[in-house]
Amino acid sequence: MSLPRHIAIIMDGNGRWAAARGLPRHAGHSAGIEAVRACVERCVERRIEALTLFAFSSENWRRPGEEVARLMGLFVDALDREVAELHANRVRLRFIGERGRLAVRLQSRIAAAEGKTAGNDGLALQIAVSYGGRWDIVRAAQRLAAQCAEGVLQPRELTESHVAAALELAGLPDPDLFIRTGGERRISNFLLWNLAYTELYFTDLNWPDFDVAALEEALECYARRERRFGRVAGPAPRSTVRA
Ligand code: IPE
Ligand code: IPE
Ligand code: MG
Repeated sequence: MSLPRHIAIIMDGNGRWAAARGLPRHAGHSAGIEAVRACVERCVERRIEALTLFAFSSENWRRPGEEVARLMGLFVDALDREVAELHANRVRLRFIGERGRLAVRLQSRIAAAEGKTAGNDGLALQIAVSYGGRWDIVRAAQRLAAQCAEGVLQPRELTESHVAAALELAGLPDPDLFIRTGGERRISNFLLWNLAYTELYFTDLNWPDFDVAALEEALECYARRERRFGRVAGPAPRSTVRA
């Protein structure tokens, strides 16, 4: 079975999971942590190279202050509880997003977790917090513009590789499989550049219900996809010059 090297997930539907049980929204976010643990474990077992999880978007700052505060507290608690085991499993943990907007307490937990796991050669686990695909592209543009202004780079020499290297996921293969739980069929400002040729998979399951069996189903669906990247179907004819 062909496995994705990199999986990117929008973990959506926590609020609806909670509402369906007469619980407050934050109970759904707490329940979602267990689904994260199961998903990471399975990716480690399956020797997936990279997993990128969307935990909090640039736009999620627009939510009520209490929900935002609960989520931030949950991130701190989850780091406190999980980093040792992630490290033991050789997971390299990194956060992507505008971390300057996060509370100092969370920023220091993130820096410590990244530092501790930086040398690990197992699953590359990215958590997107205060992340937006447009923010990522704008920031990359700023970096490249600064290099042009310094004369290190000529504008006409700018290539896709320069842009890719200036983005948050620099150095990782583009996601092969994108999963969104919660039933919505949209990208919601996730990895806009990197998802250009990613296989999209949507499920109506809410994130806390997305278990190992659901992940395996997504992997099976991915294995049946034919990825053409603009070429025609079937094996390439021998005379074809590969681009
Ligand atoms: C995803 O679940 C978690 C975050 C966006 C932080 P939601 O909180 O969006 O849950 P729904 O979509 O309202 O059910
Ligand atoms: C996307 O979910 C962001 C995360 C899961 C972190 P949202 O619930 O914020 O997306 P929309 O508002 O339904 O597009
Ligand atoms: Mg949502």
